[in-house]
Amino acid sequence: MSKVTTMTFIERKKNHEKITILTAYDYSMAKLLDENGVDCLLVGDSLGMTMLGYEDTLAVTMDDMIHHTKAVKRGAKNALVVADMPFLSYHISDEGAVINAGRFIKEAGAHAVKLEGGYQVKSKIEAIIAAQIPVMGHLGLTPQSVNMFGGFKVQGKTEQQARKLIDEAKMLEEIGCFAIVLECVPEKLARLVSEQLSIPTIGIGAGAGCDGQVLVIQDLLGMNKDFVPKFVKTYADLSSVIGSAVKAYCEEVKTGAFPEEKHTFKIDDEIINKLY
Ligand code: KIV
Repeated sequence: MSKVTTMTFIERKKNHEKITILTAYDYSMAKLLDENGVDCLLVGDSLGMTMLGYEDTLAVTMDDMIHHTKAVKRGAKNALVVADMPFLSYHISDEGAVINAGRFIKEAGAHAVKLEGGYQVKSKIEAIIAAQIPVMGHLGLTPQSVNMFGGFKVQGKTEQQARKLIDEAKMLEEIGCFAIVLECVPEKLARLVSEQLSIPTIGIGAGAGCDGQVLVIQDLLGMNKDFVPKFVKTYADLSSVIGSAVKAYCEEVKTGAFPEEKHTFKIDDEIINKLY
């Protein structure tokens, strides 16, 4: 497989070939996903929930994101690595947005950044792109705005909201974003937006009309049984697999069945006898 670039995204859209994205937050998972052909690894600020145990993404810091992006980059050979800009890392000023986006490229080796929002963050996205850093947009349910939305709710259901979403998607394309995530948007609206853009849309809870899909890796692998969003398809039951393995380990340690001789290292009896 050849290296995926932002240009690959545009070509895929032209050729009607779907794009696959999964979140990754650490080296070993990034390596597995990369080796199995995932086009793009998104170091999502969802790591606030999946890795750090927060209730939402708002407490995630730039340093958290840089730390995890570095690990993912070390595991990614071919996949495009996109780092999510966390809450308040790009809202304050254009200059601040460029400085923080630049940290992902210079310190962590990411290929691109993602940030949430439309008109409100237009100048920030323009400034980042002017610094030659590719930007993935994110519209619809933008989790960093959870307190403004009053919860994690489907977006774009009214005519006014739907028109705004279409306008903002066109604006993001115009100012140079290479792709746009559409999160929790009605299927028909996401399809309409996708048809009107020449850059790919990446859906999460936005249906099959998008040009690619993204899921949180823990959701896909069935690692979190507490809450499974409607739009998630669980492809494995790792919760049970991990649970059984851990229980078996605890049992074998307690009974002495583990470790066996094959798991141990040898020393000459002559030496050991001198130590008694
Ligand atoms: O943070 C994240 O993981 C995301 C995706 C779910 C799109 O933004």
